[in-house]
Amino acid sequence: MLRVCVLVSGGGTNLQAIIDAVNEKKITDTQIVCVISNNSGAYALERAKNAGINNCCISPKNFETRDEFNKALIKKIDEYKVDLVVLAGFLVVIPPEMIKKYERRIINIHPSLIPSFCGTGYYGLKVHEAALKRGVKISGATVHFVDEGTDTGPIILQKAVEVLEGDTPEVLQRRIMEQAEWELLPRAIQMIAHGEV
Ligand code: GRF
Repeated sequence: MLRVCVLVSGGGTNLQAIIDAVNEKKITDTQIVCVISNNSGAYALERAKNAGINNCCISPKNFETRDEFNKALIKKIDEYKVDLVVLAGFLVVIPPEMIKKYERRIINIHPSLIPSFCGTGYYGLKVHEAALKRGVKISGATVHFVDEGTDTGPIILQKAVEVLEGDTPEVLQRRIMEQAEWELLPRAIQMIAHGEV
């Protein structure tokens, strides 16, 4: 049984896609053991509650130093004996000591085809604004392992999505979620659970 912890900051549609895939048995031999948010108001926490999954908020704001926050985050993940950490829209920098400790056991979903529109400063709508500004006709999503860099780890899955005439960042974001992210992230977890990565 692959024990998964999902880290979130916002709406949690990717978390929901994972929960649904587990319920529909598209992901097997896997249990979501906890959901952690850095933001107590994140709707993702409601989604976890509704699904009966352990959840909590660990925010840098509630600690005097970044180091204390880092230690608390790692402690919580250790407590749950997690095999895989999934970053599903988590907007906090992962502690370097956690990246070392959980090498090849942390994955992230990024809403572009890496190496385009990724790295420092490319998050949320900014990714889609940059893609539209450049005028690309294809964008998409990438699931990758997390290493010390920003969006630099080994790529697990990618899927292309068309950019259409008249797209706004919001419209493109939604299409990439629907056509790529919600499919890729569960698929990557299923592959990892079955030793296929
Ligand atoms: C997604 O676009 C994901 O690619 C990015 O952050 C967003 C999170 O959305 N890393 P949600 O909270 O899963 O709805």
